[in-house]
Amino acid sequence: MGRWTAKQIGYMKEALRLARQGWGLVSPNPMVGAVLVKRNQILAKSWHTGPGQPHAEASVLTEVGQKASGAELYVNLEPCSHYGRTGPCAELIVKSGVKKVYYSVPDPNPTAAGGAVALEEAGVEVDRGLLADEAWELNQFFFKFVQTKKPFVIVKTASSLDGKIATSSGESRWISSKASRNYTHHIRTGVDALLIGRGTAEKDDPELSARPWGRRKMHRQPWRIVLDPLLRLSMTLKLFDPNLGGPTVVICSPKADQSAKENLRRRGHAVWEIPLNEKGLIPLGAAIDEIGKAGLQSVLIEPGATVASEALLSDEPVADLIHMFLAPKFLGGKDAPSLLGGQGLPKLDLAKNLEILKIGRMGPDIHLVLRPKGAFSASAAEAMPPITGYGYWDEDLDEMYAPQPQDN
Ligand SMILES: NC(=O)c1ccc[n+]([C@@H]2O[C@H](COP(=O)([O-])OP(=O)(O)OC[C@H]3O[C@@H](n4cnc5c(N)ncnc54)[C@H](OP(=O)(O)O)[C@@H]3O)[C@@H](O)[C@H]2O)c1
Repeated sequence: MGRWTAKQIGYMKEALRLARQGWGLVSPNPMVGAVLVKRNQILAKSWHTGPGQPHAEASVLTEVGQKASGAELYVNLEPCSHYGRTGPCAELIVKSGVKKVYYSVPDPNPTAAGGAVALEEAGVEVDRGLLADEAWELNQFFFKFVQTKKPFVIVKTASSLDGKIATSSGESRWISSKASRNYTHHIRTGVDALLIGRGTAEKDDPELSARPWGRRKMHRQPWRIVLDPLLRLSMTLKLFDPNLGGPTVVICSPKADQSAKENLRRRGHAVWEIPLNEKGLIPLGAAIDEIGKAGLQSVLIEPGATVASEALLSDEPVADLIHMFLAPKFLGGKDAPSLLGGQGLPKLDLAKNLEILKIGRMGPDIHLVLRPKGAFSASAAEAMPPITGYGYWDEDLDEMYAPQPQDN
C-alpha cells in the first residue's frame, strides 16, 4: 500500500485525464488538469486549454469562489509562482483558503518553479509525488525541451511483418490499417513539427498535415519540415501549397542553388542551411538542434528507408520514442524496400537494444512502442524518475481506435 488512498489516487487520475484534453492545444505550455475536493466531494475540475488561457488551478478556484476555503487541490504539475501571461497560481491558492495541495511533479521551468515553497511558506500543506510517473510521461515533450532545449523526437514506421514498406512493384498505400493511420494523426495532432526526407516527399507527395480523429481539436497545424539537400523538390508538391497554412521548412546544404533558395523564400517557405555530413546527408542531430532553436518542443519523423536508417541506426540516433505499426501480412521480395535502408550494421554487437514499452494492437495491426537506449530520460535531471511510457495516450481513446469493420 502506498502512502495515498484509493480516493486520492482517483482524484489525481481525474486531473491527469483532464490534462490530456490539452493534447494538441497547449504547446508550448504543459498539459495540466486540476480537481478541487472538499469533504470527499469534487467541487470543481478543469484543465489548461492553451497559451494565454487560465491555468487549470485558476479556473477551478474562480469557479467556486469562497467555497474553496478548506478544500484540497489535486494538480499534475507544481502550481506556478511567476507572472507570465496569467498571474501566479501559488498566490491565488493561498488567497483562496485551500488547505492542502497534492501535485505530481515539480515544474522544471526555472521561471515558473518555486510554487510549492511559496505555498508552504504561506501555511498551505503540500504533498508531492502522487502519480508522478504518469505525470512525467504526460508532459515529456515539455520536460525534455525545458531541460535540453531540444525537441522530443518520435519516429513512426509502418510495415508488413517482414519489414517491407512497399511491394516489389513499389505499391505502399496502404500497408497499415485505418486505425494505425488514425493513431498517427493523433500523434501528429500533438506534436509541433513533422519531418520527412526528400524521397518520401517526391514518391508520396504527402500534405503532411494533422487531421484529428473523432472529437479531438487542435489549435494549429504542426510545422512541415523536409530534408532536401540540393533543393531538387518540385514546387508543385502538396507540401508547398500556400493554402495549407503554416510554414514549410526546407533544410538544405549551404551549397544548394541560390536561386532555388530565393524562390522558396519568395513563396513564404523557410530555408534552413546545414552543411552536409560525409555521407552527403543533412546530419539529423544538427537538424533536430535547429528545430529546438525554433522553439519547437516535439517532432514526429515519418521516415522513408534512408531517413529511418539515419534516425535509428547511425552513431548518433535521434529518436526518443519509436512507434511501429506492423500489418499482419508478408510482402517479401528482395527488391521490395525495407524499413531501414543504408549500409546496415556489419556486426551484431553494434546493434543497440531497444526497450519495449508496449506490445499491443492498433485495429488489426500490431503496435509496438520502443525506446532506444540513451534516449531522453527525465532521470538525468535531479529528482526525476525515468520515463517509462508514453503518457499522451488517453485510455478513453481505446474505444475510438478499436478495430472497425472497414479495417483490413
Ligand atoms: N511505411 C512507412 O512508415 C513509410 C514512411 C515514410 C515513407 N515511406 C516510403 O519510403 C519511401 C521513400 O524512402 P527513401 O529512402 O527513398 O527516401 P527518404 O528516406 O524519405 O528520403 C531520403 C532523402 O532525404 C534526403 N536526406 C537529407 N538528409 C538526410 C538524412 N540525414 N537522412 C536521410 N535522408 C536525408 C536525401 O536526399 P538527396 O537524395 O537529395 O540527397 C535522401 O536521399 C517511399 O516509397 C515512401 O512511401 C514509408
